[in-house]
Amino acid sequence: MGSPPLSLLFSLLLLLLLSVLTLPTSNAALHRAKLLTSEFSAVRRPSSPTTYFEVTRPIPLPKTKPCSTLVLRHDFGNTYSKPPVTALYEPPSHCPLHRPPSAVVLEWSAACRGRQFDRIFGVWLGGVELLRSCTAEPRATGIVWTVKKDVTRYSSLFAQPHTLAVYLGNLVDQTYTGVYHVNVSLHFFFDSSTPRRPPAAIPVPDFASPADLILPISRSLPLDGGLWFPVQNSSDFQKKELTVPANTYRAVLEVYVSFHQSDEFWYGNPPNDYILANNLTNLPGNGPFREVTLRLDGKVMGAVWPFTVIYTGGVNPLLWRPITGIGSFDLPSYDIEITPFLGKVLDGKPHEFGFGVTDALDTWYIDANLHLWLDSKSSCTAGNLIKYEAPEFTSSLISKFKGLDGRFKTTASRQISMTGWVKSSYGKITTHFFQRFDYENQMQFAGNGSIQVVKQTIDSNHGTYTKHPSSILYSEQVHQNFPLYMYTETTDQVNDTYSLVSNVTLGFNEKKFSGERFGFSFSSLRNLQNCQGNMGVKGNLVTGGSGSTQQEYRYESTGGCYFRNVSSSNYTILYDEIEESCAEASPLGAGLFFRW
Ligand SMILES: *[C@@H]1O[C@H](CO)[C@@H](O)[C@H](O)[C@H]1NC(C)=O
Ligand SMILES: *[C@@H]1O[C@H](CO)[C@@H](O)[C@H](O)[C@H]1NC(C)=O
Ligand SMILES: *[C@@H]1O[C@H](CO)[C@@H](O)[C@H](O)[C@H]1NC(C)=O
Ligand SMILES: *[C@@H]1O[C@H](CO)[C@@H](O)[C@H](O)[C@H]1NC(C)=O
Ligand SMILES: *[C@@H]1O[C@H](CO)[C@@H](O)[C@H](O)[C@H]1NC(C)=O
Ligand SMILES: *[C@@H]1O[C@H](CO)[C@@H](O)[C@H](O)[C@H]1NC(C)=O
Ligand SMILES: *[C@@H]1O[C@H](CO)[C@@H](O)[C@H](O)[C@H]1NC(C)=O
Ligand SMILES: *[C@@H]1O[C@H](CO)[C@@H](O)[C@H](O)[C@H]1NC(C)=O
Repeated sequence: MGSPPLSLLFSLLLLLLLSVLTLPTSNAALHRAKLLTSEFSAVRRPSSPTTYFEVTRPIPLPKTKPCSTLVLRHDFGNTYSKPPVTALYEPPSHCPLHRPPSAVVLEWSAACRGRQFDRIFGVWLGGVELLRSCTAEPRATGIVWTVKKDVTRYSSLFAQPHTLAVYLGNLVDQTYTGVYHVNVSLHFFFDSSTPRRPPAAIPVPDFASPADLILPISRSLPLDGGLWFPVQNSSDFQKKELTVPANTYRAVLEVYVSFHQSDEFWYGNPPNDYILANNLTNLPGNGPFREVTLRLDGKVMGAVWPFTVIYTGGVNPLLWRPITGIGSFDLPSYDIEITPFLGKVLDGKPHEFGFGVTDALDTWYIDANLHLWLDSKSSCTAGNLIKYEAPEFTSSLISKFKGLDGRFKTTASRQISMTGWVKSSYGKITTHFFQRFDYENQMQFAGNGSIQVVKQTIDSNHGTYTKHPSSILYSEQVHQNFPLYMYTETTDQVNDTYSLVSNVTLGFNEKKFSGERFGFSFSSLRNLQNCQGNMGVKGNLVTGGSGSTQQEYRYESTGGCYFRNVSSSNYTILYDEIEESCAEASPLGAGLFFRW
């Protein structure tokens, strides 16, 4: 995974932070400034807009022509802290939405010109978040980009009218001139040739089908800002009461998370004893470990140890042009199977769903969608939680420093598991869900605090097993591994002007196994970026420099493969190799499933 030698492990931009603290926007970015790029002479300017992109595999779609609708068109100028932009979505009359589509794609396409920060944004339909994303930072000659997301899992929403809301907090003035011109479209695919599954001997739920109902756990319109809940510190617990229909037989909580300002680079935040000893009390601290904890009526029902998305202005903005950081255009959401808990919420009364973040600093934006499957043959189901274990996470910190230089090792781990049954017209189905997390962060400061090296790995496993008394109906196991290496070195600091060298290695690896009556599927994704950059900075403006990124994306599955090997430097693509076929992936871990 491109790990550097141990001797290179580890730093901090103390000088940088001292300068940043003098900026009026200081609380936006303590030790790493929010950075902007102006065009400088080393870069040859094109006459047409540059297309930015995130490397990802194409969405598998039926070969039919989609029926499409433009849901919203808007120019985002001064939208910061204003109400979200809304439009009424109505099922397009030219689409046969009386039957479920086989696929639905959300398309965000945007253009911008001038100078602008990276802006976080969200797209919600009926309060349900469909997309969390970050804008690309524009250039003088203009940029365009498109994000296509498979939103088939939200199908139940598209059959009814709903308010579409987009919050993208932008500020435009003489310096920050970029206005984001945006179109949001939906494409519906209907495929009559989809092979029907063989009828089951006993009626069983289709675990691959989208939920029948999705309840938003977000803030309600009208409001200013995004529909997400801001979480500002470790005691800030945000919650919402929901009533779950009495005939629910399955529930999955999907969580959206992004981190900003003092916690934008939480994985690089030093422990507080280092900060106190060096009188750096304005530096974002609390150490580099964060957990998003989900609670139902106060009880832990799951956790998210999030992927370290780096936004398009992060670390060195030149690294992300035109290849943007993994997940930055389509932030991952995290699924937690809460079916074992259903027995606690089927009483027709409101229950409290909430989130907090361990050691959070201002600000995390969090909301969730509750995906529910309803029993069409019965008006009420019943359930019970029969086993539940969610001990607190364990963590440790080894801290060794003298003055501004030192080494820190932070580790943490956590296990959550629960088993419960739900009785519906499908019979009494028992569901077991578990999560297992491991975390390690090694941080080093050298060169009297001018160098910071962070090496972090998050390992996360979760699985769901669902069975009738006699047989396993469905099982899924997901293993995610998020490696991160970040080297930053500040030199030539004079007042608010300095040079910065930054190398980043960022990986998103995932293996999934799932099995049901009809067979099993397996997929493996290895997605790795290696980036090297240097830049001159004055204030929060990048005045010169260069950035190079090499990315390898390898996806193999029982349904197909995709491989891309691409590199860019200073806005130019150096090579780009794409392969769309491969020998069919072998489910090496198949033995992992049918295990209770
Ligand atoms: C938005 O759609 C309009 C009308 O189709 C088109 O002229 C415009 O170029 C689109 N803008 C973007 C950013 O895609
Ligand atoms: C945490 O944030 C909440 C919400 O903004 C605020 O009410 C509370 O005072 C904060 N607590 C601390 C200890 O800062
Ligand atoms: C931090 O501040 C205290 C009190 O102002 C001072 O005694 C101490 O020497 C300072 N430490 C450093 C490392 O600057
Ligand atoms: C290290 O940095 C501190 C704070 O900027 C400064 O006071 C000290 O003199 C520096 N030490 C060396 C050896 O450069
Ligand atoms: C740094 O700032 C000081 C005080 O504002 C000023 O006197 C000095 O000329 C500046 N140095 C440089 C190299 O700009
Ligand atoms: C940073 O990347 C450059 C270019 O690949 C390389 O020469 C340098 O050794 C790297 N430094 C570190 C500390 O990773
Ligand atoms: C990018 O710019 C830097 C600095 O100007 C230069 O050293 C490097 O060769 C450039 N890379 C390419 C591929 O042009
Ligand atoms: C990606 O391309 C580069 C440059 O051609 C090459 O050195 C590297 O080996 C390739 N990686 C893979 C996995 O094919």
